[in-house]
Formats: sequence, structure tokens, C-alpha cells
Amino acid sequence: MEATRMTVTVRVNGREYTRAVEPRLLLVHFLRDELGLTGTHIGCDTSQCGACTVLLNGEAVKSCTVLAVQADGAEVTTIEGLGDLSHLHPVQEGFWEKHGLQCGFCTPGVIMTAAGMLAQNPNPTEEEIREGLEGVICRCTGYQNIVRAVQYAAEKMKGAGAETEVAAAGADASAGGDA
Ligand code: FES
Ligand code: FES
Repeated sequence: MEATRMTVTVRVNGREYTRAVEPRLLLVHFLRDELGLTGTHIGCDTSQCGACTVLLNGEAVKSCTVLAVQADGAEVTTIEGLGDLSHLHPVQEGFWEKHGLQCGFCTPGVIMTAAGMLAQNPNPTEEEIREGLEGVICRCTGYQNIVRAVQYAAEKMKGAGAETEVAAAGADASAGGDA
């Protein structure tokens, strides 16, 4: 007998998807098998490696610990939606600039974890970065360059924020001048 299916609607990388799924389907399988977003990796079956990390309503979660039906109505960002080749997200740029990877298997999960962390804490200390990355396992790098990559991203995002503030202040000033 075929298992009962439930309809879920999830907004993934800015696009809405509706699918009928088995209630036991994990979010990671929904992303990979139903939507073909295979940038989200599966590295274990014990919820320990973090390779499957995505942003769920802006918060980094291991997508192998969430059912697809629990994401009904939610907003999900995967590595495919974070940036693209012409507009890398600062964390992606940091990994590029600081050589934050070797085999790359863990990288999508590490990047999504770091992006979630910086959204919560834009100015982390090295210790906070290391703590924030505790849930993701990298077998290759020894983490040093990963930490440097996240520090690079934090600096870059700070700069971008300052530029935005300066631009806004300039716009305000010129608006004031016209009044
Ligand atoms: S696949 Fe390892 S924590 Fe999700
Ligand atoms: S770069 Fe190979 S597991 Fe992290």
C-alpha cells in the first residue's frame, strides 16, 4: 500500500515549490531528490557532520534533522541560492581568497553554517567562529583556513555595511540640500 502523502510548499532560494511527499521525507532528501539541489551534501547518517546544513528561515540547520513537512511554509536557502559566480556571497569569497577548502565535500555545509552565524553575530571573535563551526566536520583542512575565510567574510560584510551607511548618509545629505 502506498504511504500517505502530504502536500508541502517551501520557498527555496526565492522560488516556491509545492510537492506531495511522504511525511517521513527528510528536508535534505526533499532538496536533493525532489528539487535536484545536490549542492547540499549528505556526509553521515548520525546528524553529526553538518554537510547538509542549509538556512531555514535564516537560521543554519542540519537538513537531515528536519522533515520536509516541518519546512512547510518556510524559506530555505541552500548553497545554490547564496551567491553565484558573478556575485559571490562574502563567505564564498572568503573561502576562495583564503583557500578554505581541499576536497570540498564539507564546504557547502560549512559555508551555510558560517553565513547563518554571521547573520546572527556579524563581528565574531576567533573563538566564537570556532565554536560556531563545531557542528560541521572537515576531514581535510585542519580548520585554520576555514576560520580565516570566515574572518575575511566578516570584514567584508562590515565594509559593505559601512559603504551602505555612507551611501545612505550621502543620499540623506543631498535630499536635505534639495529641501
Ligand atoms: S548529513 Fe551529516 S549532519 Fe546531516
Ligand atoms: S575540505 Fe574535505 S572535508 Fe572539508
